[in-house]
Amino acid sequence: MLKTHYCGELRKENVGETVTLAGWVNRRRDHGGLIFIDLRDRDGIAQVVFNPEITAECHQIASEFRSEYVVQITGEVALRPQGTENPELATGDIEVIARQAKILNTSKTPPFYINEEVDVDENVRLKYRYLDLRRQRMKNNLMLRHRIIKFMRDFLDARGFVEIETPMLIKSTPEGARDYLVPARLHPGKFYALPQSPQQLKQLLMVGGLEKYYQIARCFRDEDTRADRQPEFTQLDLEMSFVDEEDILRLLEELFISMIETVKPEIKLAKPFPRFTFAEVMERFGSDKPDLRFGMELKDLSGIAAQTSFGIFTSAINAGGKVKGICVPGCAGYSRGQLEELNQLARSCGAGGLVTIAISAAAAGIEALTSEMIKSAAAKFINIEQIKAMAQRLEAKPGDLLLIVAGDAKMTNATLGELRKQLGQRLKLIDPKSFAFAFILDFPMFEYDRKTGALSTMHHPFTAIKDEDLPLLDTAPEKVRGKSYDFVCNGTELCSGSIRIHNAEMQRKIFRILGYKNEEIEERFGHLLEAFEYGAPPHGGVAPGIDRIVMLLTGEESIRDVVAFPKNQNAVDMMLNAPEVVSEAQLSELHIRIKEDTKELT
Ligand code: AMO
Repeated sequence: MLKTHYCGELRKENVGETVTLAGWVNRRRDHGGLIFIDLRDRDGIAQVVFNPEITAECHQIASEFRSEYVVQITGEVALRPQGTENPELATGDIEVIARQAKILNTSKTPPFYINEEVDVDENVRLKYRYLDLRRQRMKNNLMLRHRIIKFMRDFLDARGFVEIETPMLIKSTPEGARDYLVPARLHPGKFYALPQSPQQLKQLLMVGGLEKYYQIARCFRDEDTRADRQPEFTQLDLEMSFVDEEDILRLLEELFISMIETVKPEIKLAKPFPRFTFAEVMERFGSDKPDLRFGMELKDLSGIAAQTSFGIFTSAINAGGKVKGICVPGCAGYSRGQLEELNQLARSCGAGGLVTIAISAAAAGIEALTSEMIKSAAAKFINIEQIKAMAQRLEAKPGDLLLIVAGDAKMTNATLGELRKQLGQRLKLIDPKSFAFAFILDFPMFEYDRKTGALSTMHHPFTAIKDEDLPLLDTAPEKVRGKSYDFVCNGTELCSGSIRIHNAEMQRKIFRILGYKNEEIEERFGHLLEAFEYGAPPHGGVAPGIDRIVMLLTGEESIRDVVAFPKNQNAVDMMLNAPEVVSEAQLSELHIRIKEDTKELT
């Protein structure tokens, strides 16, 4: 090795030792003849001092050092002179008195500061990702990612799981996104698909008798990118035979608790993790991945609303819908513009509008409210007693703002859920340091597509159905619940999984409910259905998204900051400049011709 120690590991205990360090020049300072170098490597920073009176040659070499030069230094560890210690630095008590120095490589001036936490345009960071990764924050993120994955491997190995790789070139699997396709040169006109997840393969491993499988699996989905989405991402994919839901939930809980206690012991966990049904979180928080770090719960006001003379309320209730609301603390003073913005947000979620009721901060209490203390365009249709009842139901106080939505139950919940989420963030009701994990259970198996009216699965079509809901499958599929579970934290879905169907006939039936024709079922899923006819064991599994877990535990707001070489928001790799056009020769080998008008699209 060209070094004996990492820069960041030197302490008082090393004083007197001769060490050789190698790394990057983080900063150079010249002070009255002395040259000070902050030398950086993966582990941290050490101060190196070059004194011309100790070695003039070495001092001369150091005078040529520039930021990001790669240098090697040999010297003696010494205590820093009293009063010059740097408590901010782990190595702040010591410095290395250089005796030998060598430039291992020079560096151009980097396009952004590596030694300072400054805001840099993300595309520039991604183009020069190798420089961005030199920043301590990024290195810490990748190192925590490594520790998390290592923990997962050790944890599962100790419980008898076998790590098995599955292929990347497969046939398309329905996970709800578009596939990335790979043309097959040897089979002109045919394509492989990159796996959206190894879902069917892990099920086939169970049919193959492996019983406990896991994989750090790369998944590919051609969907719009978001802060918590990448076109390629990593799952801890796992599957077990002879289990029920409770077995998987217990395993997950044990895995997450022990992992967080090991890699981030400072996080306070509420144990065991709370469990909610899908129906309950939708009613209370209007989301299947609720942020449970703050209240502002949705409350049903239909009973009170039905008594009012407000047509919007009564017609919604008569049509089988609901009137629900949330209480926004301390926002009675919102301006007309601010209220209009909330109204627009509600409309963008599908609501016809938003009823707002501002309760004057001057009121002595809700009981003492008079109509002069209320500001609401709907006040002429809702009498003061009804407003009081709504305010009480929403546990409002003087100075609060009530937001009420009327209509179809699903839309009402979704709209208020979005308002709750955005206002929770805007009003800083969330302690960014806290973590609220929860399991969400019993998702509906199917949902109707709002646009096409077609049924689709909420998880995926391989999910088993709750035994007690089986009779509803033919009569009311929308009421059928799956044996499915999600694990969420702070408003982000971290994993989802389910007990699977292991019976070919039942699997065919689900495909038929989803509108697949018989030939299509055999063509797309014949392999799985056939496998189920050879003694498929009952099985189930789950897939925690590793990028999202690391994002949460590092406190980052984007998964791009926890992936070594991510794509940008437009799914472009800025460093490699991919995707890119390929040569005519490559295309011709694949029997592919690009349509004439394609250039205009890019
Ligand atoms: P699902 O599609 O819910 O389930 O994915 C499981 C978890 O993977 C993560 N994830 C993503 N992370 C980053 N970028 C993306 N584009 C992305 N998409 C999903 C999330 C999510 O919770 N085969 C099933 C699992 C199973 O049933 O066992 C599946 O893939 O954290």
